[in-house]
Amino acid sequence: MKINTLGYLGFESPNHKEWESFGPEIFGLGLNDPGADGTVYLRMDDRHHRIALHPGSEDKLAYIGWELHDKNAFRGAIAELEAKNYPYELGSPEECAERAVTGFVRVRDPHDYVHELFYAAEFTAGSFLPGKPHHGFVAGADGVGHVVMVVPEWGDDMESFVTDILGMELFAGYLTPTPDGGVFGPQFFRCNPRSHVLGYVTIPGLKGVQHIAIEGNSLDDVGKAYDLVQEREMEITMTLGRHMMDTLVSFYMRSPTGFDIEFGAGGVVLDTEHFVQTKPSSAEVWGHKFVAQGWAPTVKPVAPPA
Ligand SMILES: [Fe+2]
Repeated sequence: MKINTLGYLGFESPNHKEWESFGPEIFGLGLNDPGADGTVYLRMDDRHHRIALHPGSEDKLAYIGWELHDKNAFRGAIAELEAKNYPYELGSPEECAERAVTGFVRVRDPHDYVHELFYAAEFTAGSFLPGKPHHGFVAGADGVGHVVMVVPEWGDDMESFVTDILGMELFAGYLTPTPDGGVFGPQFFRCNPRSHVLGYVTIPGLKGVQHIAIEGNSLDDVGKAYDLVQEREMEITMTLGRHMMDTLVSFYMRSPTGFDIEFGAGGVVLDTEHFVQTKPSSAEVWGHKFVAQGWAPTVKPVAPPA
């Protein structure tokens, strides 16, 4: 299937209410009216929302919304899942209303992360108001940014899910063998002019959402957010720097829900016709010093296989 972009992200968290101030004040995200259950809806553009924080007893990624071109693409995706005998569930009318989309189908990857393939999201022209003076976000048809999860192992089943079911391609990957015959390291996948929309980091024994990334139109908004986070003595997990892979100048900080948020500007826009795969000689051009006190709390130990 052909996924256009990362359209929305949903999380559950006991601290969901904190995002009502965290999102707008730190990053300039907009706020929509809360859901009936108190769900916080954060906006990056005229879409109803891009990031949903649902109330829940545990901090976790609830779902990843992948945007399809239109209804025909949606029907085609379902036909493909049927043909490949891959289990799926249709989103209920209530769930579609909650996500503000016309339809979606839910699939689970081999590590049980929920992926939703949707089409026709609701928007209101001219309605986006940033949470503070701001130059806006890279969103629209380019979507949210990217999401990165930790998985305890990487096998053919995961490879097949990402490349065959989701139809994405590897942009860059750094899998290295482990002494017990497994692998370790990050892999980043793309489906549009962004260098990557999805990442899986293989770390034996650990699992959970590691970070999400959002991109602003102006580096000044990133710099001002970086200043503010330091003034407020909030937890920075990676200092300001520029990745070599995607050229983004960004910093990482811990969110109220435990995973990290990368906020940056200047991400590469690929010429999808002509670019070729290349191999960065190092992860960073400058900066991005890892200063976190350990892994994001959403990344947790998993029971070893029996
Ligand atoms: Fe990232």
